[in-house]
Amino acid sequence: MATNLTSKICDISEPVTFSSQSFATDRWVTNLKPYVIATVGLPARGKSYTAGRLNRWLNWKGLKSRVFNLGWYRRELYPSESMTHEWFDPDKEDQVSKREKSLSCCIDDLKRFFEGGGIVGIIDGTNSTATRRERLQGILAGFIDANRILWVEKICDDPESVLENILTRKVHHEDYFHASPSEVVEDFSKRIQHYEKNYTRLGGPADSDKKFIQIFNVGRKVILNQINSQLDLKLAYFLMNLHSKHITIYLTRHGESVAQLNQIIGTDSDLTERGKGYSDRLRDFIDRETAKEDKMSVFCSTLKRSYKTASSFLNSGKYVVKQWKQLDEINGGHFEGSTYSIIAEKWPKIYKLRQGNKYVYGWPGGESYQQMIARLENILLELERGSHPILIIAHQAICRGIYAYLMYLLPEECTEIEIKSHCVYKFSFEKKNEPTVTRFDLGLG
Ligand code: F6P
Repeated sequence: MATNLTSKICDISEPVTFSSQSFATDRWVTNLKPYVIATVGLPARGKSYTAGRLNRWLNWKGLKSRVFNLGWYRRELYPSESMTHEWFDPDKEDQVSKREKSLSCCIDDLKRFFEGGGIVGIIDGTNSTATRRERLQGILAGFIDANRILWVEKICDDPESVLENILTRKVHHEDYFHASPSEVVEDFSKRIQHYEKNYTRLGGPADSDKKFIQIFNVGRKVILNQINSQLDLKLAYFLMNLHSKHITIYLTRHGESVAQLNQIIGTDSDLTERGKGYSDRLRDFIDRETAKEDKMSVFCSTLKRSYKTASSFLNSGKYVVKQWKQLDEINGGHFEGSTYSIIAEKWPKIYKLRQGNKYVYGWPGGESYQQMIARLENILLELERGSHPILIIAHQAICRGIYAYLMYLLPEECTEIEIKSHCVYKFSFEKKNEPTVTRFDLGLG
């Protein structure tokens, strides 16, 4: 088989040594000082969802991040107490001091996190009064620069969205183990009323120097204040793209290709007959899976084997097929068109270097996983922005990268994830904010 290898590339010598920072998928993340994001808003406004998504994205970008959820501290400190609405009554002094104690414990952990090399601590709580925010800011001033505290406020005045949030996220919540959905709605609505008594939105005269991002009704309006560092801007961009609900994402490799059948790396080969059959099976499977949906996006790459697998979704009122160059398979460089056994035999050094560290070692003239993952950023933002299910028909390495992101793994953990051909991986969020993946084998081997 034809390869475009030259003898020159055999001279590629030792791998460069990388510090752990170089696992970052973006260069701007190096040498950062600690940074705090604190959420603000009434209960059931999607703060924890936002905190979780920020956390995933920041870690993915190589910034060691962690969520410090105040509800978690409250439950840890007072495990035997019933967390019904009375617990949140601002007129009950005992309760107020318990909530302050939860904050202090959270701050202790936050400090330890920074001492251990953490970069972004996300304090996930209501922080709904000006007094609480001043107090928190005062404590943080002891170990964080004032210009490294970002307040993120989620405002929603649409009762239907709030109710939906309670029904989807609070019904299975740890605070309500034995309550029925209607009891949860009733109690949680009372909890919100307690907070409403003293709630003050950001944006008053005392906040003019604060860094904040205020998001109204799922991004219909966004206010940015004192957003000026590169990290602030990246966060603002991410938050402006973030949708408020979990969507189901389906991920699959293209149908069998001629190159794959011959164990050839890369190239732009066509589908085999079996691969074409997979395109039809995939359409049937997705039709059944998403029967209740009226709209769905299908993303494919610009390579034949991917877009031809997506072809069965064309000419449909429901499916919108989009091709993305960023979804093209990892670039095998000079080794595109070769096979692993030829490379191992003729260029053992290169073969070993790549097997030893696929994440940072790039194919000569091609890409490493790290480089490939950096170009996936737009795709990941599309997944965050989406309001309908999305099917991604891509390639082995690309699917590994996306799989790792969706499962909250670090990018460098993706290189050996098994992504079987002719299988669909369904990612959803059952009950809480925890991702689950289910594999469906469509029976083509
Ligand atoms: O073998 C199929 C394939 O998609 C190749 O085109 C690509 O180079 C390879 O998988 C990526 O997998 P790995 O990183 O394990 O070599």
